[in-house]
Amino acid sequence: MSNDYDLRIVAPFSPTIIKASLPPDLVERLNQRIDEIVVRKDEVAARDWSAHLAGAVSTELRFTDVIRETAQLTDFLYDVARTFTYRCENALMHYSDYERTEELEARKLRIEIKEGWINDMVAGDYNPAHFHQGCLYSSVGFLRVPPAYEEEFAADKARQNTAGCLQFIDSRSAVGVKNLFTVKPVVGDFYLWPSWMLHCVYPFRSPGVRRSMAVNLALA
Ligand SMILES: [Fe+2]
Repeated sequence: MSNDYDLRIVAPFSPTIIKASLPPDLVERLNQRIDEIVVRKDEVAARDWSAHLAGAVSTELRFTDVIRETAQLTDFLYDVARTFTYRCENALMHYSDYERTEELEARKLRIEIKEGWINDMVAGDYNPAHFHQGCLYSSVGFLRVPPAYEEEFAADKARQNTAGCLQFIDSRSAVGVKNLFTVKPVVGDFYLWPSWMLHCVYPFRSPGVRRSMAVNLALA
């Protein structure tokens, strides 16, 4: 096929999601801290956040205090949320060019951490479709996957390879419109999205823990 026609697909209406990588040493620090918490029944009970969440998830622990105290993590969250905001604003001015941030970088947006929690999921746990209220952005960082998860994912052809996956759902279904975006959990991968966006997490069967950290953010 010739490229002479200057063919380009533009996506001016799609909601957007930003992806980043958590520093590996930060993932290790967070896992150490969470491992200390989950072995203590009193800490688990004090941090139980399940009443506030939609999921059928074994362990959901409020983690807002640790997030706010961990400067390496707050710096990361602020950087990602600011960049997402700048790029989305620039895309409005520059016709879907999401790479430009320079015109707004001087404006130091203040980002507020509203709530954060840890989801330790085991085989059979899932999160039904939901969205997050009381914030502008939602985010997730993957901290651990079960040891045999890769094999399970690779073998999961019958369910379109969704085992243990996070899936974003847009309301439209039509030619040229992608209305599902499926994210495989990979340790260190981090995603941030507008909090109104529906999403769910599919169950898996492998023994072990699928650990993620969720953080709700707002512009202060
Ligand atoms: Fe969620």
